[in-house]
Amino acid sequence: MSALGLGGMPVLAAPMAGGPSTPALVVAAAAVGSYGFLPGGYRSAAQFADDLAAVRASTEDVGVNLFVPDDGDVDRAAVLAYRDRLAPELERAGLAVPEPRWADDDDWQAKLDLLVERPVPWVSFTFGLPGPETAARLRRAGSRLLATVTDPGEARAAAALGVDGLVVQSAAAGGHRGTFDQHRTPDDTPLVDLVAGARAATGLPVVAAGGVAGAGQVASLLHAGADAVQVGTALLLADEAGTRPVHRAALADVAQFPETVTMRAFTGRVARGLRNRFSATYDAAAPAGYPTVHHLTAPPRAWAAANGEPHLLHLWAGTGHRSVRSGPAGAVLASLVP
Ligand SMILES: Cc1cc2nc3c(=O)[nH]c(=O)nc-3n(C[C@H](O)[C@H](O)[C@H](O)COP(=O)(O)O)c2cc1C
Repeated sequence: MSALGLGGMPVLAAPMAGGPSTPALVVAAAAVGSYGFLPGGYRSAAQFADDLAAVRASTEDVGVNLFVPDDGDVDRAAVLAYRDRLAPELERAGLAVPEPRWADDDDWQAKLDLLVERPVPWVSFTFGLPGPETAARLRRAGSRLLATVTDPGEARAAAALGVDGLVVQSAAAGGHRGTFDQHRTPDDTPLVDLVAGARAATGLPVVAAGGVAGAGQVASLLHAGADAVQVGTALLLADEAGTRPVHRAALADVAQFPETVTMRAFTGRVARGLRNRFSATYDAAAPAGYPTVHHLTAPPRAWAAANGEPHLLHLWAGTGHRSVRSGPAGAVLASLVP
């Protein structure tokens, strides 16, 4: 049992929005004594409620993860220039160039209301911190809070808010970096050092995340002071994961997709994924513009997923992507325990 009380296994299932973290994946984690986090990101509050009900049909041991909405401070001219740059690509796929969607809070308030009405044991946040009122409301309802942080300064801010623990996420992580200010270039300190730094800065329990692909790495992170480790990429090929077929195929095709890179190309926020034609062509031109850029590239990504085209899809993956194995999620998690 970790100090945080997150299951009996020190390897946890990270939240992965956009399909991979299904209710079944969360249930499978709980069934082996691990702990899963159900993503709220990109789901309407109603869809999120359905996902949560599906988990609760099997277990109450569930964490949820929410995207903290951005303040909307993006350079609109830069986003529009990027849209012009992408236009020929969209037209080649027979797609209309979308109007920019400048505001999108991911149904934040409705999801919070839902969690206050029917609390879960753990709520984790990424892309920033909730306000003190929101944090207090969730805690009064009975939830404990985890904040995703990517450097010691963010760790201190989370500690000042009074969270119960930190998810310390390094540059090796697949998917979006949780860096609070999307305009900043995130810290690329190795995970072991980030963990030690966050512990020293705050004394809070730490869940370490980013690039974990083997039991040896888990042992080193626990030794460095992590209370538990969270894996995302390692579960992308799990039986219970909702990873799209084209994404699964790309992960298995190391010859065509040998490396991951960090990019803003698909969403305007720094994220790590397999390098493909889209990231290689457009990343240099991509501005910090989440979530508007995310919405601009949604039509080609939907088209790519439907047509099995890996070069127009965001293929999120961490640096451990070459070690990813298929099979039951419970077995994948157990194989990472030192
Ligand atoms: C496909 C994918 C989707 C992700 N979605 C989320 C998310 O919704 N919320 C979040 O906090 N982190 C998200 N992450 C990051 C993970 O929670 C975690 O930090 C990361 O997967 C750890 O690194 P690893 O992939 O190398 O194991 C995502 C990661 C991936 C690969």
